Amino acid sequence: MQTMAIIGAQWGDEGKGKITDYFAKQFDYVVRFQGGNNAGHTIYVEGKKTVLHLIPSGILNPECVSVIGHGVVLDPEVFKVEVEALIDKGVQVSNKNLIVSQHCNVITSYHKLLDQMRDSKGSQKIGTTGKGIGPTYEDRCARKGIKLIDLFNKETLKTKLTRLLKEKEVLFKELYSVKYSSIDEEVEKLFELGKYLFQFSGDTFSELDQALSKNKKVLYEGAQGVLLDLDYGTYPFVTSSNTSVGGIYTGAGIPGHHLDEVLGIFKAYTTRVGEGPFPTELHDQLGVDIQTKGHEFGATTGRTRRVGWLDLPLLRYVKRSSNLTAIALTKLDVLEEMGALKVCTHYEFEGKKIEISYPGLDLSKVKPVYKEVSGFTTVFKDGEISPEVQSYLDMIENEAGITVKMIAYGPNRSELKILKH
Ligand code: IMP
Repeated sequence: MQTMAIIGAQWGDEGKGKITDYFAKQFDYVVRFQGGNNAGHTIYVEGKKTVLHLIPSGILNPECVSVIGHGVVLDPEVFKVEVEALIDKGVQVSNKNLIVSQHCNVITSYHKLLDQMRDSKGSQKIGTTGKGIGPTYEDRCARKGIKLIDLFNKETLKTKLTRLLKEKEVLFKELYSVKYSSIDEEVEKLFELGKYLFQFSGDTFSELDQALSKNKKVLYEGAQGVLLDLDYGTYPFVTSSNTSVGGIYTGAGIPGHHLDEVLGIFKAYTTRVGEGPFPTELHDQLGVDIQTKGHEFGATTGRTRRVGWLDLPLLRYVKRSSNLTAIALTKLDVLEEMGALKVCTHYEFEGKKIEISYPGLDLSKVKPVYKEVSGFTTVFKDGEISPEVQSYLDMIENEAGITVKMIAYGPNRSELKILKH
C-alpha cells in the first residue's frame, strides 16, 4: 500500500491520533491537509501522554517526515509552542522531519478574537473551539488571507494585515465593543514568529509530488470528522474545512495517484462536542457512565463530550461520502460491563424509513430506531475476541457493508489489534 487516508467517521474525537501513530512507522510521510489547532490528537507512548493539536502525529516516529499541507490554517504561536514542547520531551524535530506549506493561511489574533466574540455574543452559537479557524477560512475564501510566506516580509505583512483589519475593526468596535491589538503589535509578533517558522516552511506540494513519484509511502491524517465537514456535515454545526476525503485533494494534493486505503475511524459508540443535532444522544446515567469511563472531555477545550449509541445510518453515509475502504473501531473497552447495548439501525423521518443519512437531512427531526444487542464484560476472553464482541463487529460489518480492519481497546499504543489485512 503506497497511500492511505485516516478519516474521522463521526464528529471527531474517534481516536485518530493513536491509529495514525500506529501506521506512521509504515509510511515515509504523514500529512495534515485541513483544520488547524482545533484538533486534539492524544497519543500515549510508554505511558506518557502527548496531545498534538497542529503537528502531524507522525512526528513521534523519527523516520517519518511530517507535512502540514496548504489546506491547514496555521496558528504560528501554537506551532512554535508545540515544536518546543516536543523537543523538551526528547522528540526529534527539525526541518528534516517537519515541513509546513508556505501557502498555509495564518491565524492571527484578529481571527481568534472574532471567533470568540461571535460564538459568545453573536446570534448563533456553534460551540466552536474559539481558535480562529472559521474566520481564517473565511478570509481565505474572501481572498484576503495572510499566507505563511507573507510573514517573511514585513512590508507585505503590514499591507495585508491593514487590509484585513479594516472590516474587522468595524465589528470589534461597533458590534462587540472589544479591545484588539494594534497593527504594529500584530506585525511585530507575526514577523518574529515568521523568523522562527522560516526554517520549516517549504513547497509541500512538490515535496509530495516527488516523494510519490519515487514510490514513497504517504499517509494523510484527517482532523475532526466527516459529520463536521463543511459540505457533508451537519451544517451549520460544522467546522470550516473539508474533513472528508475530498479535503486531501484540495488541501495537500496527491499528485498522479489515488488513495489505496481510506480508513474511517469510528468509535464503538458516538460522541459530539459543541452544539448541533445528535440523534442517538443519551440523556441518562448510562450516558454519564460512558462519558466518565471513556474520558470524554475535549483534548483541545476540555469541554464535556455528549455521548450516544452507535448510529448506523451515519456510518453508512460516511462510508459512501468518503469512499471508506474499511473502518477501525475504537474504544471498545469503554463498553465493557455497560449491560445490553443499543444500536440505531435506521431513522424514521416524515413517515419514511431512512437507512442512509444524506446532506441536508435535518437530524434534529429524525427518530432513531434501535435494536438491542448483547453487551460484554470483556473485549478479550482467553486471548481471543469474546463471542459477544465478535457478534458486535459482525453486526456492524453486515449492517454497514464495511470491513472492520482493526479494533482499539485502550489508550496505549499497544492496545490495538489488526483483524484483517
Ligand atoms: P471550530 O472548528 O473551532 O470552528 O468549531 C466548529 C465545530 O467543530 C464545534 O462544534 C467544535 O466543537 C467542533 N470541533 C472542532 N474541532 C474538533 C475536534 O477536533 N473534535 C471534535 N469536535 C471538533
